[in-house]
Amino acid sequence: MYQTLLTDLQDGTLVITINRPDKLNALNKDVIEELGKVLDEVYSNPDIKSAILTGAGEKAFVAGADITEFTSLDAAGGSALAKKGQDNVFDKIENSPKPIVAAVNGFALGGGCELAMSCHFRLASENAKFGQPEVNLGLIPGYGGTQRLTQLIGKGKSMELMMTADMIGAEEAKALGLVNHVAPLAELLAKTKEILQKIHTKAPVAIAKVIACVNDAAKGETAGFANEIKRFGECFSTEDMKEGTGAFLEKRKAIFKGK
Ligand code: COA
Repeated sequence: MYQTLLTDLQDGTLVITINRPDKLNALNKDVIEELGKVLDEVYSNPDIKSAILTGAGEKAFVAGADITEFTSLDAAGGSALAKKGQDNVFDKIENSPKPIVAAVNGFALGGGCELAMSCHFRLASENAKFGQPEVNLGLIPGYGGTQRLTQLIGKGKSMELMMTADMIGAEEAKALGLVNHVAPLAELLAKTKEILQKIHTKAPVAIAKVIACVNDAAKGETAGFANEIKRFGECFSTEDMKEGTGAFLEKRKAIFKGK
């Protein structure tokens, strides 16, 4: 169904594998196009409760935007490329009402680091390497990297990483708050799925509202507190809230319907 992606739906989690291992899974036009499509599927298919983004092979998550496609671009073309990607992929991941987690299995450079950062959180394999090396090419990040890296690790470290183009390993990424957990490569997907299985037992409408509220905070949304009050109130009119509180009081396990 997809030319550049592999998809596998198991236990409500769609594993999306970017599949150009001979090019270190670099994001060309086709990958961006297909990621947009698969994200529409994540949003609309009720059988999909969460998604994992990962890369094919044992070397790379995604080694960046496909540099071969940059050579013919002018200023307008560069902006259009960045806008299309941000609108159809990176922002769509960030704003997904269902959890989308990156399982970073190797190089996450440039657009790859940006793709991982657009996910709700990240796990990394021990061999993972992160970086924003665009200045090596006379460029800056264009898929949200200047914003999301600064949100995640703070201004000073973000400035240093983007100005030096240095790569950092998984443990340093964890220490900086860029990834939540580090696992051996062979266990990375299982560990990511395990966390999502736990999330699947919680109220889906509440999960969607957590995502929206935390995104507000990360983006410095001035209405963040007001939006939290509104969304907190909205929870009270859900069946899931009645089920969750009822189950607690009846000392049984809640069964949520996502309504
Ligand atoms: N765009 C297009 N092709 C890429 C790519 C990218 N971002 N990253 C890797 N590739 C291709 C290489 O050109 C090579 O293709 P080839 O076999 O046809 O020559 C293949 O993937 C393997 O990469 P290679 O460079 O040979 O692997 P390596 O182990 O020597 O180095 C990296 C790995 C990640 C350090 C190196 O590939 C690299 O620096 N990539 C670019 C990273 C980058 O600048 N990303 C930001 C882009 S904005």
